Amino acid sequence: MTARIIDGKAIAADVRSEVGERVRALADGGVTPGLAAVLVGDDPASRIYVAAKQKACAEAGVASVRLDLGADVSQHALLGEIEGLNADASVHGILVQLPLPPQIDVLAIHEAMDPGKDVDGLTPVSVGRMVRGESGFRPCTPLGIIELLVRSNLTIEHAEVVVVGRGALVGTPLAIMLSQKGPNANATVTLCHTGTRDLGAHTRRAEVLVVAAGRPGTVTADMVTEGVVVVDVAVNRLEDGRLVGDVDFDGVSRVARAITPVPGGVGPMTVAMLLANTVTAAERSVAAPGSS
Ligand code: GUN
Repeated sequence: MTARIIDGKAIAADVRSEVGERVRALADGGVTPGLAAVLVGDDPASRIYVAAKQKACAEAGVASVRLDLGADVSQHALLGEIEGLNADASVHGILVQLPLPPQIDVLAIHEAMDPGKDVDGLTPVSVGRMVRGESGFRPCTPLGIIELLVRSNLTIEHAEVVVVGRGALVGTPLAIMLSQKGPNANATVTLCHTGTRDLGAHTRRAEVLVVAAGRPGTVTADMVTEGVVVVDVAVNRLEDGRLVGDVDFDGVSRVARAITPVPGGVGPMTVAMLLANTVTAAERSVAAPGSS
């Protein structure tokens, strides 16, 4: 078997063009959705991610502003910036790029953020709503993974899904979202992590395998079963400069039914879902001005 490649770039382009239509509808009512991206320090990867998000905003007609803060910014000063963005009616979505430097209490920053502007879905209110299955913003990468599967006609409902990696940005929220009752969910989910005894015993049971461990070579061909659908989330840079995921792409794609490439799989979907969440925030602000 040779796996079909799940083209995240093409699917993200579809999502972005749908977002563009919603932006035009808002423009007819005189509203331009706005995203504020907060970048602290000079982590090169964070710079690249934020630049990609701002470029996508510009292409979709979403206004974006970037706050560049030094790596030595104080907790107090950063909280002040968040409060300013909360109060700014032209800002519908706030994104604080992670990781933050060690002097910053990430929880306090997220707690300070208006949940109605939490387009990254990472504040305690959003996480609580997600766990309870209530409406609210969901984190962009899990949202993007679900969208990728749905738009590729790959079944989630009733599937045996194995997620590798329990991070707060991807693995944990995805496992929660996929196991909930409802459309494009309702799967049986196993969440594997560094404490898992026999990873292969779990991954071999998967009909859908999502790998977000951040370690190249985490999943090899002998760890999957013929016909599996594989979503490789991580982007790792090797010493020779190449970008690879966590999955041995060449080996696993000979066994899998479908697989995402790295790059060009999940990454573009994260950006597309951030735009979608930002436009949703703007639409909600029109429907219920002043509330969030
Ligand atoms: N750093 C890596 N991924 C993300 C993300 O999805 N959101 C934020 N805020 N920071 C990140």
